[in-house]
Amino acid sequence: MAAPYLSRLSTVPRSTWSPAPSLSALALSKPLSIDRSRGRTSSWRAAACAAMLASAHACSRATAQRASRAVRSGSSSAGLTTCAAGDVPTFHVGLVGYGLVGQELVKQMIKEGPKLEEKIGVRLEIAAVSRSQVMALLPSNSFSFLADGWDESKEEPADLEKLGQHVVKAASSSGGRALIVDNTASDSPVELYEAWILAGADVATPNKRAGSGPFPRYEKIMAASQKTGARFLYEATVGAGLPVVGPLQALVRAGDEIETVEGIFSGTLSFIFNSWKPGVKFSEVVKEAKEKGFTEPDPRDDLGGTDVQRKVTILARELGLQIELDDVPVKSLVPEKLQDWEAPGGQKLADAFIQELEAYDEEMEKLLDEAEKANEVLRFVGAVDVKSKSASVKLGRYPKDHPFASTQFADNICAVSSKWYTPRPLVVQGPGAGAAVTAAGVFSNIMEVMNGMR
Ligand SMILES: NC(=O)c1ccc[n+]([C@@H]2O[C@H](COP(=O)([O-])OP(=O)(O)OC[C@H]3O[C@@H](n4cnc5c(N)ncnc54)[C@H](OP(=O)(O)O)[C@@H]3O)[C@@H](O)[C@H]2O)c1
Repeated sequence: MAAPYLSRLSTVPRSTWSPAPSLSALALSKPLSIDRSRGRTSSWRAAACAAMLASAHACSRATAQRASRAVRSGSSSAGLTTCAAGDVPTFHVGLVGYGLVGQELVKQMIKEGPKLEEKIGVRLEIAAVSRSQVMALLPSNSFSFLADGWDESKEEPADLEKLGQHVVKAASSSGGRALIVDNTASDSPVELYEAWILAGADVATPNKRAGSGPFPRYEKIMAASQKTGARFLYEATVGAGLPVVGPLQALVRAGDEIETVEGIFSGTLSFIFNSWKPGVKFSEVVKEAKEKGFTEPDPRDDLGGTDVQRKVTILARELGLQIELDDVPVKSLVPEKLQDWEAPGGQKLADAFIQELEAYDEEMEKLLDEAEKANEVLRFVGAVDVKSKSASVKLGRYPKDHPFASTQFADNICAVSSKWYTPRPLVVQGPGAGAAVTAAGVFSNIMEVMNGMR
């Protein structure tokens, strides 16, 4: 029999649940010139414009306040000094990453933009879009550039600093506001967040790298946002389109005291444990998940739990824990012997890995049988415990009437226990992956800022 690789399972007794960059120097070495010159030399003009904005209702009060604040601090932020009375405030959006989520977000923006302009009086404009190698910096009113497909004639080599400058300059020229959306899974854009925010641009992202990367970088991004009032928004990093981060922030702001946050944060692992029933081999379920397109090209990326570890780190920081990714222990579902295993030449990695996994089916079946006998289910859960300042990611056992046992298909679920949400937790459940819902999560952040602009 295979050696046991899942030595301990956490079990949840009924009684316990039911009640309950430092890059700035580099980025700013190419100053965002329009903002800078205005901030330094024309502060009286900027102050006058800010006052005009407030009285003319051309831009929002928040916008005028940001302009005033930028002027007071003499900082380069906001870029809001040329808003003309009577203009519709414009939200200039720079998109970094044009893959599944990026393209879906563009579709949603193109479809909903005109309606939003009518409803809330703020124009949405795509000012720039970048892929890994190429980008396009767009003039005003360029929705059609993307509506008609990617126009290669407008392409130039990708340069994210230049992209940031272009978007901030567009906002500065129109008196609107700038936002950069990072729809990549890369660290490169994250290295620029602080500089973008210091230049007055909001940043929205489903990319987990900032929230789960080095804590000092995260702290600098947060400090930049505090300093300039430009927002750092990342609802879609946990639970994709599900409202998890926002409600948590709102509860904390309103004075609630969060005790624990736990949940199923991987759509792939949710599907696997929702589908796995006695009599079915674990490797067969992983195979089905792969065939349905739920797994990464290397299924170890899902079974290893790193994605959940990132999400748990983001939530832990949200709750005030100063932790690094490595402070969150993960009980990987990848057998130790297969962690550094490589597929034999000529074989497809995923298929060969699933075949190797068959040797562990018996051991996994035992876990499932034990859970069944206790009228419990197995779920791969990430948790943050505020009191003990700890977080973890592991396979646990939950009673069949626990909210985590009711997940279906590839649902995510998040349960928040707090001073107010007790003895029953606040539960958010639904699809937690897929380009459409993830883009919708990013779009909800965009609309949040737009609402503040009117
Ligand atoms: N898809 C989902 O269901 C889902 C769910 C939740 C969260 N997310 C998160 O959403 C983000 C995007 O996911 P996705 O599925 O859209 O990924 P994707 O399809 O792989 O697209 C990634 C995009 O980012 C671009 N890119 C990569 N590195 C870049 C760089 N340094 N500068 C500029 N662009 C760069 C890629 O450029 P090329 O076009 O040149 O390759 C591509 O356009 C990720 O952080 C992911 O974790 C996705």
